[in-house]
Amino acid sequence: MPAVALIEKAKQDWMIALARVGSDSKRHARAVVEGVLTRMVGLTLEAVGCQAPIGARCDVINSDGERVETEVVGFSGDSLYLMPTSEVRGLVPNARVIPTWHGSDVPVGPELLGRVIDGRGRPLDARGAVRTRNKFALQGREINPLARTPIREELDVGVRAINALCPIGRGQRMGLFAGSGVGKSVLLGMMTRYTEADIVVVGLIGERGREVKEFVQEILGQQGLKKAVVLAAPADSSPLMRIHGAMRATSIAGYFRDQGNNVLLLMDSLTRFAQAQREIALAIGEPPATKGYPPSVFARLPQLVERAGNGALNAGSITAFYTVLVEGDDHADPIADAARAILDGHIVLSRQLAETGVYPAIDIEASISRLTPQITTSEHMGMTQNFRGIYSLYQQNRDLISVGAYQPGSDPSIDRAVRMHPQMIDFIGQDMDQSVDFASSREQLAAVLSLAAANTPPAAADPQPVPDSGQG
Ligand SMILES: Nc1ncnc2c1ncn2[C@@H]1O[C@H](COP(=O)(O)OP(=O)(O)O)[C@@H](O)[C@H]1O
Ligand SMILES: [Mg+2]
Repeated sequence: MPAVALIEKAKQDWMIALARVGSDSKRHARAVVEGVLTRMVGLTLEAVGCQAPIGARCDVINSDGERVETEVVGFSGDSLYLMPTSEVRGLVPNARVIPTWHGSDVPVGPELLGRVIDGRGRPLDARGAVRTRNKFALQGREINPLARTPIREELDVGVRAINALCPIGRGQRMGLFAGSGVGKSVLLGMMTRYTEADIVVVGLIGERGREVKEFVQEILGQQGLKKAVVLAAPADSSPLMRIHGAMRATSIAGYFRDQGNNVLLLMDSLTRFAQAQREIALAIGEPPATKGYPPSVFARLPQLVERAGNGALNAGSITAFYTVLVEGDDHADPIADAARAILDGHIVLSRQLAETGVYPAIDIEASISRLTPQITTSEHMGMTQNFRGIYSLYQQNRDLISVGAYQPGSDPSIDRAVRMHPQMIDFIGQDMDQSVDFASSREQLAAVLSLAAANTPPAAADPQPVPDSGQG
């Protein structure tokens, strides 16, 4: 054999041997270095002696020998900060802390459809274990923003006022802003049942346990659950579990999107997600910045929200609704502000409309979808603007009209707004058992507006006094 060939052969043998050592060392390198628990204040545990990176899982062995699952959320010097992801019971000083290196992959698959699971993926619906074959990263996969398919097509959500006046594009991320008890859950339930999306993933984050049951059994029902996956991380679960719940729901939606589906992701609520992150951050010593919220909260929000949207070419889409609580109808809440900045529009539910019995109580004036021009025809856009114009003219003069200070006849356009108001309110309202598809929504919008045009008396005609509609 010539010398060159011999050298080449030796080189190849070396490479193979090195590769083998490399893969063996990968398998064995993770020697588990156990530590002990030194401190526990609130929900934060401190451990020394063990080595684990941020995000890794550690089991703490309690006084009964049971494992309490935790996750590494920070460190300082030699101490690791851990937060429980399961129930905390029987922890004692010097308890063993064992890094477990569980991967942070979420089991996913079509088997999840129709199921109700918790923030750790365990079934809540007494229908046995969820056996899935695929995995999706809990943190999601990065999508090059330039590779994302642009938002061009509308998504029918089955709700007339949204389809007609605030149309949503496939892959759009919307906020649903409202105080409590104004009808968020019912509206999300309507969209789950009536949307044309292939799959609906519902994340109930930080809700009361009772509300979870109500949402699944009464609002969704069997029909709504068929093509849906519901994930509930209620208020009594640990803050980390609530964060994971939101991330897991997004991963499940991501899996279905990558299978080419149009997914509707409904997250109730983004505010509770932010509050969970605030609990964690404050507990490990991050200083609060904006109205008690530490900076990491504002970093977490876009990380979560950016994972929705369209995939790369040929993959499906995740259209998402994130509910944002605006307590006392304070729209200057820092979370509401941050959400407005990172979302592609918002639907605002109005307490005043809800109080007059109009559901879904969508405040047409305050709700906008930033992508309307990209997804609708100019004709539809024109109708939307026309409706909004007449509607808001009534709202601007509402106080005058309702106390009778407005003299009918003094302004023909206000007269028309007053006449049209009951029809417009009827248009916004929709029974929760009724579905209105995109085409009918548009037709009905055109019908209301043609009524407005037909109703306009010629400028010269003697205007008839119009009684107040009594609405509003
Ligand atoms: N479309 C609707 N039709 C009739 N009543 C509704 C509708 N939407 C909401 N409601 C009423 O409002 C109440 C609160 O709604 P819910 O969705 O639970 O509010 P939120 O989730 O904002 O706290 C419901 O119990 C129901 O009585
Ligand atoms: Mg609710």
